[in-house]
This record gives sequence, C-alpha cells and structure tokens, in this order.
Amino acid sequence: MGARVIDGKAFAADVRGRVAEHVARLKEEHGIVPGLAVVLVGEDPASQVYVRSKGKMTKEVGMASFEHRLDASVSEAELLELVGRLNADPAVHGILVQLPLPKHMSESNVITAIDPDKDVDGFHIFNVGRLATGQKAMVPCTPLGCLMLLRDLHGSLSGMDAVVIGRSNIVGKPMAQLLLGDSCTVTVAHSRTKDLADVVRRADLVVAAVGRAEMVPGDWIKPGATVIDVGINRVERDGKNVLVGDVDYASCAEVAGAITPVPGGVGPMTIACLLANTLTACCRSNG
Ligand code: GUN
Repeated sequence: MGARVIDGKAFAADVRGRVAEHVARLKEEHGIVPGLAVVLVGEDPASQVYVRSKGKMTKEVGMASFEHRLDASVSEAELLELVGRLNADPAVHGILVQLPLPKHMSESNVITAIDPDKDVDGFHIFNVGRLATGQKAMVPCTPLGCLMLLRDLHGSLSGMDAVVIGRSNIVGKPMAQLLLGDSCTVTVAHSRTKDLADVVRRADLVVAAVGRAEMVPGDWIKPGATVIDVGINRVERDGKNVLVGDVDYASCAEVAGAITPVPGGVGPMTIACLLANTLTACCRSNG
C-alpha cells in the first residue's frame, strides 16, 4: 500500500491565508501593519532566490517588507549597526539576516545582536533557551512547519517514538525540542550514530534533516510510520538537475503511512511559518 502524500504546498497556502486574514484585521481594527526586515549580505544565488521569495510572500499577506541588500565586503560593525537600527524601528516587528554570512563575519555575533523578540528565525540564544525550557519562544521556521504538518496528521503526538536524523542548530536540535514538548520519545541521530537503520526502524515519526541526498532507504522505515523529509538536495539525474530529499522517496513511500514529497512538502512551510512568526512578534509587541 502506498503512503499518504502530505501536501505541504496546500497546507502552507492555508497558513498564509490565515495570516493574511489576521493582518487585514490588525490593519482595520488597530491601524497596525506587521513589518518584516530581511537582510541579505553578498550575492549567494540560493540566498537571493530565498530572499526574493520571502519579500514577495510578505507583501502578498499584506505585511510591510523591508529588504536590505549589503555588499559582501561590508564590515561586521556596519551590519551590526543596521541590525541596531532595525531593532529600534517600531515599523519592523521581525528581523531575518539571511545565512550564510560572508566568512569574515561571526554569525553568532550578528544573531545575538538581534532583539530576541524580533528574532523571527528563532536563532537567538534567548529563543534557543526559551524553547529548551518550555517558555514562550520564537521557534525556528522549518521545524515549526514540520510540527504543524505532524499535528495536522496525527492530532496528539504524545507517546510516539520520534527519530530526528541531523543535529543542526537550525533544524535538528529545535525539532527534537518541539517533539519533546509534544511528549514524544525523541532520539537525535547523526553521522556518528551506530546502527542508524535499527534506530530509524523503531520510529513512528522520522524527520530527516541531514542534507545528504536520498540517504534513508525504505527498508529503514517501520511500516505505517510518518516520514518528514527536510532535505533539499540538487542532483544530476539522466542529464537533468533535479531536487531530491534526504530520503529515497520511491522506496520509503511504499512502506510509510504518510510522507512529505520534495519539492512541495516541508519547503513551502518554512516561509509560511516565517510570516506566522512575524505576525506573532507584531501581536506580542503590541500587547
Ligand atoms: N539560510 C537558509 N535557511 C535559512 C533560514 O531559515 N533563516 C536564515 N536566516 N537563513 C537561512
């Protein structure tokens, strides 16, 4: 039997629709327009695509979009000065500094300079700590999107065995915290994990976020398990450049109960959650 295909594209459109309704109401009833500032340093082509897409969708939901493009040669001090101005700007409720930054800058210095309450990426150490201790936090967008898909599919996740493959600060670690917060039994697997296949086979929920094309085969998946594929990897196939995830979709879809496709699964949820976080930041800042 084939897995149910989780339509992240449709779910994300629905989230953006609900954000747009809230934004319209905020404007009508309180004269408030949520604003998101996105800072891009340098010319990284993938980052340029993401930033353009973020700006477009921000405007589509009725928010104000502020784009700051800086030359790759800008100093860390100049970037910190811009972050300081955005922190102080009452029209800016969310700040996102696109990563990676040029090598001569410290990403942690820059992220730490962002007002934690405007940190819509959820990368600031205060938000990392708030999430880890179960306090109200800005939550990183990609894991938040995964959690929304899982809750929509299962309702309660309580008591489920979850395996997160990957331990990055952006996805793996916050994903594990979120699943723990929903009372899953969580295992975080990574490149040094022994018997990874056996670890993954125990899981009711598998979240793959390693950045290695198709590394999880179907025979690692427990029949009926839910597979969330965070990977976006470009590979050559039959002379064409195609996008594939971190799981081998064809074989995993034969065994899983539900699975996210790549593209059209987790990817669209990231920007939808960024907009939801910006709305949350705006509402919190206005009491
Ligand atoms: N670069 C790749 N993904 C992200 C993200 O989620 N946030 C930021 N700020 N930069 C990124």
